[in-house]
Amino acid sequence: MAQNALELIETMKDIPAMPTVIVKALGIIKNDQSGTKELGEIMAYDQALASQVLKLVNSAYYGFAQEITSVNKALALLGMNQTRNIIIAVAMKPMLTSQGGRDLWKHALTAGVACEHIARETEAADPGDAFTIGFLHDIGKIILNIFDTMTYQKVKLDVQNGADIIEAEEEAFGTNHADIGFQLAKKWKLSVLLANCIKYHHDPLSSSMPKVSCLTHIGDQLAQDTPEIPEIDPEILENFGISMETLNGYRDEILEKTNQLFMSLKA
Ligand SMILES: [Fe+2]
Ligand SMILES: [Fe+2]
Repeated sequence: MAQNALELIETMKDIPAMPTVIVKALGIIKNDQSGTKELGEIMAYDQALASQVLKLVNSAYYGFAQEITSVNKALALLGMNQTRNIIIAVAMKPMLTSQGGRDLWKHALTAGVACEHIARETEAADPGDAFTIGFLHDIGKIILNIFDTMTYQKVKLDVQNGADIIEAEEEAFGTNHADIGFQLAKKWKLSVLLANCIKYHHDPLSSSMPKVSCLTHIGDQLAQDTPEIPEIDPEILENFGISMETLNGYRDEILEKTNQLFMSLKA
């Protein structure tokens, strides 16, 4: 079955639409004053979203001493970037959990937190952007699963048994989740940076934006559900300017933060 990502996505009738709230949240200009105001407006129209955000703000993940009962207070405390991240995570949850199950949802959160953490520590990217990039890096998997669920389940099994994911997908679909994710990112009109990081997260040195693509790759590896971080190509580590030792030092904190986030986002 030889086809490329674009052909596959064009033959699909039901490509999931990007949740409207995310379109709005990503479209907000990064200006603290007007941005915060706009996010407040998004939540004013979406009570379910507002209540989820409040629940999360009051969770152990943030650890504020007082209970926060209004969206405006939450926005003031969290700032625009953090609030935008929460909105994106909350709005994507139904799609991620219905198509990829709990694993993909948890992996997305972990990679988001990991990329944000590394970006903050290394100043390689804006931490808020880094969260979104890490959180969305595997969205192509959703499409492959919708396109042919039975086949994708088989691919997942092969990967659990040690197959390389890109190779297994190529063999089954003639394309892979990184290329599909890139096509979806274009359809969703995500930023060039985001689309590029999605496309190259398994091969970041081929990207025209290698630094942030390497960040995505490293965050993805940190987020693997394995006792140790899987080995990362030394060239990638060198390109990004980080050591395995430093990454190992970050991991516990990242996993703990993700767990708190995961618990607070439970239904
Ligand atoms: Fe991936
Ligand atoms: Fe991944």
